[in-house]
Amino acid sequence: DAVAKGGFPHFMLKEIFEQPEVLRNTMRGRLLTAEGNAKLAGLDTNIKELRNINRIIITACGTSYYAGMVGEYMIEDLAGVPVEVEYASEFRYRNPIIKPGTLVIAISQSGETADTLAALREAQQKGATALAICNGVGSTIARTSDGGVYLHAGPEIGVASTKAFTSQVTVLAMIALLLGRQRRLSFETGADIVKDLLELPDLVTETLKLSDSIAEIAKTLCKANNFLYLGRHFCYPVAMEGALKLKEISYIHAEGYPAAEMKHGPIALIDENMPVVVIAPKDSLFDKIISNIREIKARGGKVIAVTTEDCHPLDEIADHIITVPKTRPMLMPILACIPLQLLAYHIAVLRGNDVDQPRNLAKSVTVE
Ligand code: G6P
Repeated sequence: DAVAKGGFPHFMLKEIFEQPEVLRNTMRGRLLTAEGNAKLAGLDTNIKELRNINRIIITACGTSYYAGMVGEYMIEDLAGVPVEVEYASEFRYRNPIIKPGTLVIAISQSGETADTLAALREAQQKGATALAICNGVGSTIARTSDGGVYLHAGPEIGVASTKAFTSQVTVLAMIALLLGRQRRLSFETGADIVKDLLELPDLVTETLKLSDSIAEIAKTLCKANNFLYLGRHFCYPVAMEGALKLKEISYIHAEGYPAAEMKHGPIALIDENMPVVVIAPKDSLFDKIISNIREIKARGGKVIAVTTEDCHPLDEIADHIITVPKTRPMLMPILACIPLQLLAYHIAVLRGNDVDQPRNLAKSVTVE
């Protein structure tokens, strides 16, 4: 067991620390620097068809769903194709509208989630081409799909998904790049994105150095009963994923929210017992999120800010600052989610929970 964990106390921590290598494996041979493009062999048979699709539905469950939300923003941004993301369990039962030109992408780490498989089949039944983004090689979803992309993340043992999420987002970035280059995305921007993607593994290594300081922050927060996670734009799904991680392994109630929606409800919950994790990278929405943070502080809330360098005046307002390296906004979710994985991990350890096998949860949900 100790050998399998590679010297780490838990599989989850091992998998968090594997992420630089995992991202290298996810991208290996798939990025074309000279063309500013991605080449995904599993999509080769669909490549012409992809040029003509006019709508995408991404369907998934759990963490894979939040990766899909990042994918929505990336694909709309780079390719200008409208994307919807839908829980597989909703999609499959509500008679979705699928017209010619609609592409469905199912995302599943295991490739065995019952609802996601059923959603994929429902999409095919209605005539859609259905692609899959899976980690499980030869899994049922991978075999049922009309094409797709493997994560190459290696087996994920910890029930709370970590490396699969960052690698799913990486695959979605490559798909967004490919769809973008078929449409309005210039060679130059494409080449910049390729460069930024290739830099990510080193930036993830940098980010992982935060683990000890996050363990310290965790000590001050581990007795809280409720958490709020806020983010905007590309980092809104990161807030959702951060809250999910905390729920899954710390058993602390946590809600993820788009930062500006806070004033339409969650703000009523904020007091000195409510830690608020805010993902606030220095980007075009930085000033907006600063005013959201001021609203939290005015009500006594504790703010843990995940940000990038030069974050002034955030350094004066937040109770804890976690500084991650900077990359283009579209790729920030990959770096910003790592402190949240570590925060959930360290809090769960402090609370004495079974990190790798949290109560009531299964790695792969093959029942409905
Ligand atoms: C379960 C797991 C989650 C996972 C979800 C979807 O709930 O505990 O970690 O995100 O299923 O699984 P999939 O294998 O389809 O990505």
